[in-house]
Amino acid sequence: MDFTHQPVMLNEVLGFVPHTIKTAIDCTVGGGSHAEAMLKAIPKLSLYGIDRDAEAISQSKKKLAEFTDRVNLIHDSFSNAIDKLQELEVKVDFILADLGVSSKQLDDHHRGFSFRSDGPLDMRMNQDEMTTAGTIVNQSDEKELASIIRKFGEERYAKRIARNIVAFRQKQEFTTTLQLAECVEQAVPLKYRHGRIHPATRTFQALRIEVNHEIEELEALLEGSIRLLNSGGRIAIITFHSLEDRPVKQIFRKWVQPCQCPTGLPQCVCGLEPLARLLNKKVITAKTEEKELNPRSRSAKLRVAEKL
Ligand SMILES: C[S@@+](CC[C@H](N)C(=O)[O-])C[C@H]1O[C@@H](n2cnc3c(N)ncnc32)[C@H](O)[C@@H]1O
Repeated sequence: MDFTHQPVMLNEVLGFVPHTIKTAIDCTVGGGSHAEAMLKAIPKLSLYGIDRDAEAISQSKKKLAEFTDRVNLIHDSFSNAIDKLQELEVKVDFILADLGVSSKQLDDHHRGFSFRSDGPLDMRMNQDEMTTAGTIVNQSDEKELASIIRKFGEERYAKRIARNIVAFRQKQEFTTTLQLAECVEQAVPLKYRHGRIHPATRTFQALRIEVNHEIEELEALLEGSIRLLNSGGRIAIITFHSLEDRPVKQIFRKWVQPCQCPTGLPQCVCGLEPLARLLNKKVITAKTEEKELNPRSRSAKLRVAEKL
């Protein structure tokens, strides 16, 4: 059985979806598995399914074919789609975002997301965008490269890797994922080459985040989503690394305790009222059985908030 396409923490997510809800947005509809489960569980639910990957939209269109009258698929980034839905004064009861790349994107070597198989240095989730990983690797200067790799990969050898990338491209342009993976591997110390994770993991993560503006997208989602929710509506976000989880945790905390008064004041004078409450005090992670069956779930973290 192929377990790679299992939706991450499906039961945990469903556990937070009240059966009385009428409208939902799946910001990252992907192959449509989370969406399908929600539509099946709640016969009166209408759902907006957003994805910036045209292949994901056609895949979810097939998967959700029996629900066409209740599904509205939108091919766009969730930041743009959220803006448009706000302009239309749409309000919903549930928002889900299952961030990052799908296993389908990762496993398709033509998309260039993986350092494990050879493919073009692409990494665009939306193939209508101009900038690929190749553009960045071939055109950014050494300082910019080091900064991207450090910031979005939290890679301690960012400087050495950037230096080796620039040295490599003086001989030839980067065109493939394996060229880059080898170049990164050669740049890091021997002991790091045989560590727990592949030495190119963090560099590939950094380039993917840069190519797809993932942090800006997440900030826009956190900013806009609370306004789209009805009172009592919920937002569930699944993240896969600390650069994603940190802002979610911080914004949720700010919704719960927005007060900006200096500590020590006898009472609040800023007047900022809480916007939401947390539905899980402790972050939720996948169960051991899921982690064994679906390696992608191992780093997943789920946080859920409810608008007051
Ligand atoms: C982890 S997969 C989602 C899988 C989905 N939950 C399912 O059940 O099949 C993430 C999906 O989100 C999409 N995505 C990531 N960031 C996005 C963004 N900012 N705007 C729209 N789609 C995005 C990716 O293209 C990918 O298809």
